[in-house]
Amino acid sequence: MAPPQNLVLGIESSCDDTGCAILDARGAVLASKVSSQLASHRPYGGVVPEIASREHLRNWPAVSQEALATAGCTLHDVGAVAATRGPGLTGSLLVGLSVGRAIAWGLDRPFYGMHHLEGHVYSPFLREEGPADPVPEQLTALVVSGGHTSMLDVSGSAITSMAETRDDAFGEAFDKVGKRLGLAYPQGPKVDLLAERGDASRLRFNVRGRDELFFSYSGLKTQAVRALEALEAAGTVPAHAVWDDLDAVPAAVCDLAASFRDAAVRQILDRLGRLAARKPLGTLAVSGGAAANRLLRRRLATWAEQRQIPLRLVPLVFSGDNAAMIAFAALRRIANGDPGNGPDDTTVHSRIPFAHA
Ligand code: KG4
Ligand code: ZN
Repeated sequence: MAPPQNLVLGIESSCDDTGCAILDARGAVLASKVSSQLASHRPYGGVVPEIASREHLRNWPAVSQEALATAGCTLHDVGAVAATRGPGLTGSLLVGLSVGRAIAWGLDRPFYGMHHLEGHVYSPFLREEGPADPVPEQLTALVVSGGHTSMLDVSGSAITSMAETRDDAFGEAFDKVGKRLGLAYPQGPKVDLLAERGDASRLRFNVRGRDELFFSYSGLKTQAVRALEALEAAGTVPAHAVWDDLDAVPAAVCDLAASFRDAAVRQILDRLGRLAARKPLGTLAVSGGAAANRLLRRRLATWAEQRQIPLRLVPLVFSGDNAAMIAFAALRRIANGDPGNGPDDTTVHSRIPFAHA
């Protein structure tokens, strides 16, 4: 079989996942491998930047070889290389970006330094099998992850931020509340699981705020912690318990998780409602690791259907950080005639804000 042509090699190493993906020119994902570092960070309850950089270095050879083998190609078949240049952890970014630059220059191929959110924004159009779906000209993008809660206006390749979080990100709040509830890292998916078993009407957390579009999760986090303290003081749940076995978690903690999740999701829908009242929304494209949240997916589906707003929820395999989304965003740049970054324009940036509306 002849090797596939015009392939893009994507690299994502902005935080604690080492990702390598290979896409063809139609955006079909021929391979997307992600090596998780969860076991290395778990003893510390969160990501340790120095450990993350070292793990990226250690994991890259195996992850890239697996991706090439799955795609059935060699590096020589790769037509362009893309890596995340930020935002993220500087040491982690440097590993992926340096590897990507070295491959591109060694092969004499163009190199694309990508914005991490640019990757998430278009990821709802990737498919697990086959070519990516066409991306509409106008999108309203919602990115919910451990680092971001962003509402973005996307017009072609121009991305403008309309609202960010003022404090904690959506996923970060889940992680922090989950940690206090006694769950192991990463806590977000576990809080979601417990919430499925709980009764959200037991506690009512406030999310309204004033009329602005921005998000804020630290107040909600504090409300959840106070509620837990009250349950502990009343002896309803053991104080400062640690739950390795999720089946053993008491009903009162599940109810608290459900109430917290309900309020967190209500805030998202509240802000989307405010935005929709101000301007017509394009296709709503929802992405990011926390876009895996079950309640968020259900509520968004209903919300969008009621308003007849086209909705794209990122496929679960591409919701967390991955390199397929980085390669896909690079494909869009290539299609727009972007020649790639020159050798002097390939530094990493821990923070790269988008333009604000
Ligand atoms: O996009 P991602 O992999 O990394 C960042 O760029 O942050 O997102 C990871 C975040 C973590 O905060 C994790 O706890 C959260 O997404 N997350 C969830 C769920 N699955 C992952 N939060 C709430 N519910 C979930 N089901
Ligand atoms: Zn991310």
